Amino acid sequence: MASEEVVITEVADGIATVTINRPTKLNALNTAVREAFIEALGRLEADRDVRVAIVTGAGEKAFVAGADIAEFEHRTALDQFTASRCATVFSAAAAFRKPLIAAINGFCLGGGCELALACDIRIASATARLGQPEVNLGLIPGGGGTQRLARLVGVGQAFRLIYSGKMIDADEALRIGLVEEVVAPDRLMTRARELAAAVARKSPVALHLIKEAIQASLETPLAEGLRLETALLSVAFASEDKAEGVRAFLEKRAPVFTGRRPT
Ligand code: COA
Repeated sequence: MASEEVVITEVADGIATVTINRPTKLNALNTAVREAFIEALGRLEADRDVRVAIVTGAGEKAFVAGADIAEFEHRTALDQFTASRCATVFSAAAAFRKPLIAAINGFCLGGGCELALACDIRIASATARLGQPEVNLGLIPGGGGTQRLARLVGVGQAFRLIYSGKMIDADEALRIGLVEEVVAPDRLMTRARELAAAVARKSPVALHLIKEAIQASLETPLAEGLRLETALLSVAFASEDKAEGVRAFLEKRAPVFTGRRPT
């Protein structure tokens, strides 16, 4: 892949790594990055060899330092509204039907934090700094920050972070539940790949249904969520992977999941 590409994708052993590659601007999300990222996720979703994806930022300093502030200067209210209503990096990440892991390698701010929030699991380097600094620009988060952050860390912590616009370090992010793991900087990609590899061995059908069910838990009442879980479990029962998983257990061998769709 050419290094000038703003989003680089590499696939190995069923794991895709999506690297946002604008390190001189701390990987800020400009229009080119947004378009390339959405396109990359679409391609990886269609690629049956890809079981899990990792999102990270190029360079030592940043995961993503937010939306490209330079693009804000001449943007009108209507431009912003129209852009937010289209497919966004956040909606693309949340709708991606395979597990998505954010490997947070540095500044993870504004739209960067919201991108991480739209992923399923967040692993941070010990040097990462996270926050929602939009208020410092007279703005509010626009990529789901007020919604997903509050759901993940609780309303009080979301208010604290978004009102103050302050950055927190990785240990504090772990303590409040904004990231799930913190590792030494030189272990970040190894750990992300280790986790991705463990997940990649599972049934793609089951992984997809798990994602549907857990995402639904964020917006459905318990009784409705439980009904959905029951229905999705029944879907899993129709899959070849279920037949293989159960047979492998009974035959005392490791299962080989193909992810063929239920019929
Ligand atoms: N949009 C556009 N450009 C950005 C950017 C962003 N969100 N974040 C960083 N950059 C650019 C800087 O303008 C600078 O470009 P330049 O070298 O052409 O001047 C380059 O990236 C390096 O950033 P710099 O500010 O010099 O690095 P730093 O280590 O001194 O500070 C930050 C790092 C993250 C604290 C600082 O860049 C920052 O506050 N960025 C904005 C974060 C933000 O508010 N994000 C939410 C936007 S809604």
